[in-house]
Amino acid sequence: MAAHRGGSNGRGWFWALAVGVTLLKLLLIPTYHSTDFEVHRNWLAVTHSLPVSQWYYEATSEWTLDYPPFFAWFEYALSHIAKYFDREMLVIQNLNYSSQATVLFQRLSVIFTDVLFIYAAHECCKCVNGKRAGKETLESPPFVLAVLLLWNFGLLVVDHIHFQYNGFLFGLMLLSIARLFQVRQRDK
Ligand SMILES: *[C@@H]1O[C@H](CO)[C@@H](O)[C@H](O)[C@H]1NC(C)=O
Repeated sequence: MAAHRGGSNGRGWFWALAVGVTLLKLLLIPTYHSTDFEVHRNWLAVTHSLPVSQWYYEATSEWTLDYPPFFAWFEYALSHIAKYFDREMLVIQNLNYSSQATVLFQRLSVIFTDVLFIYAAHECCKCVNGKRAGKETLESPPFVLAVLLLWNFGLLVVDHIHFQYNGFLFGLMLLSIARLFQVRQRDK
């Protein structure tokens, strides 16, 4: 399981895959989005407009805040960027509000927080042995892993069309796994 030191043996392909899929995500901005889009807009509005003590009691929208506090704070942080796009999305009464700026902001928030996912995928790829057989890039385990993670079709559809933040959350988990591997390799 020796990680390649520095990972400098032509890992340009990793960034090509990452940039390529990010461009695809940008192309998906105007596509159909599900009611989850409104769920997240409402949570931005709730966390932005009310004190923490009322976040879990606010019920103007049928989509009440029913995710754990970490995610609520995540929405709260996002709302402080959202206000520069369109303040109206942060009004609790504006149910189903989806101006162009709102759509742009929400879509970009998923694409941008996916940077954590990309970084986690990069760390995971460093953990798999890239020297096996020393064959073509296309057959090397890190390359295959990068394609499977970054271009995960299901994740693209659920996050960038349907609308959710699974990539970001998945990234947290992958990064934990990568760090566990890295600690083990160091302790060997
Ligand atoms: C918002 O959209 C949902 C789903 O499309 C619909 O059921 C609901 O009646 C809408 N609410 C308002 C206030 O327009």
